Amino acid sequence: MGQSKVLVGVYIACAAAACATAAVAVTQRLKVRAQKCTARKILVEFQEACETPLPRLRQVVDAMAVEMHAGLVSEGGSKLKMLPTFIDRLPNGSEKGLYYAVDLGGTNFRVLRVQLGGLEGRVIKQEYEEVAIPPELMLGTSEQLFHFIAKELAGFVAREGEEFRLGDGQSREIGFTFSFPCKQTAVNSGTLLQWTKGFKVNDAIGQDVVAALQKCIERLGCKMRIAALVNDTVGTLAGGRYWNNDVMIAVILGTGTNACYVERAESISKWTGELPKSGQMVINMEWGNFWSSHLPRTYVDELLDSESLHPGEYGFEKMISGMYLGDCVRRVLVRMAQEAGIFGPHVPHTLLESFSLQTPEMSRMHHDDSSDLKVVAEVLKRLYGIQNTTVGIRKIVVAVCDTTCQRGARLAAAGIVGILKKIGRDGSTANGLMRRNDTNGIHDELSVNSTPGSGKTVVAMDGGLYEHYSKFRNYMQEAVRELLGDASKNVSIELSKDGSGIGAALLAASYAEYVPS
Ligand code: GLC
Repeated sequence: MGQSKVLVGVYIACAAAACATAAVAVTQRLKVRAQKCTARKILVEFQEACETPLPRLRQVVDAMAVEMHAGLVSEGGSKLKMLPTFIDRLPNGSEKGLYYAVDLGGTNFRVLRVQLGGLEGRVIKQEYEEVAIPPELMLGTSEQLFHFIAKELAGFVAREGEEFRLGDGQSREIGFTFSFPCKQTAVNSGTLLQWTKGFKVNDAIGQDVVAALQKCIERLGCKMRIAALVNDTVGTLAGGRYWNNDVMIAVILGTGTNACYVERAESISKWTGELPKSGQMVINMEWGNFWSSHLPRTYVDELLDSESLHPGEYGFEKMISGMYLGDCVRRVLVRMAQEAGIFGPHVPHTLLESFSLQTPEMSRMHHDDSSDLKVVAEVLKRLYGIQNTTVGIRKIVVAVCDTTCQRGARLAAAGIVGILKKIGRDGSTANGLMRRNDTNGIHDELSVNSTPGSGKTVVAMDGGLYEHYSKFRNYMQEAVRELLGDASKNVSIELSKDGSGIGAALLAASYAEYVPS
């Protein structure tokens, strides 16, 4: 064979290899493109199913107001439980003395004490301690759960410093923030209707939770009286009202979500007790259980619900609150991984685990403003071992976070405007905002320092989701403004941080057996 033939042979072989490599690269590129295309399709389908345009939000607003009426008329009249709390007066600043609160309901458990100095001294000093709830207690027995609370409380009381003082003859009284649906029979008694969020302590359902905790406290030799059973929304309302007379509504956006507000006692047709002198009562709506056919429900919500601890319950909460948002995102990513292979040929097994993507991590990815979405890459790698994602795929992940967050935030906004509508403060009725003493009569009776006619309605907000997830907060505020239009200038939404703990202590003061002079 001549040299030229050899060269031609080598050349052909090289060209063939180059062609093969190029073909592999083209196939790879085509594959990536096809993956992205399928993932985009899944994304667009999800975005469309989650849409909350203004007309749809208005339907949710109306449904909320209608369901509120129905829930007040009869037990079981609506999925909204609309629970009377027996709270017919709210703190007004004149409270004095030393009070305690325990707060159970989210991921953390808190104990708190506060020294109140009346209108002049206000909050002289407060202290609190917080511990994460051992996960096994959320699924154990009621005895274990209440014993844990009592023990933490007793330890905290034992560490009371000298700067905290009981009034002469005053004994220690506590507000018990228990953030689950309870049917109250008095301000300081109530039976648990069902668990929500991640709790499932079956033998507690139907029990008087105040009596159960009181028994555990006494068994530890601790002398304390539970003066009030307080949902966290009610605590937030009380904490907000202590500083601002215009607070009428409180909303929690945290692990779970819920709202309470001040209602005219006459409107609570299902109320069979004596009408309170003030003519008012705080209603715990348990809006997490709200449902309406106007809610944009997707395959993700159906899956999440059917695999949850409480299927068929708390559908609104499952679309909105911190416990579930991350898991909604994860479920969309699972579909993209399975159907479009966006994370490689195998779906990482940890991605298949429920709640492996928590809302704080979702929020970090959503707020990633680096050009190559570093944070998204880091979270995917750390949680699921996913490496080498393209910026295109990361953008899709951010878009899933955005869609889920925006839907939740806008639905929460519709819920708030629904309450405003129910109490005539959404600007939809002539003089709605100024007629408040006719429509609700709340302000003057419930607070000593009311400023009638200020025309303002304040919504006190609390919860980690609202506080820490700024895109959620912004979407929510924007939707409230969109829905209220001009009337939004009369409504303000204010963070009342940790209001529920101090609010429970304030309610313990309002409903104490002994009131220091
Ligand atoms: C859940 C509880 C409710 C609570 C809310 C916020 O929805 O059922 O009582 O207020 O979470 O913590």
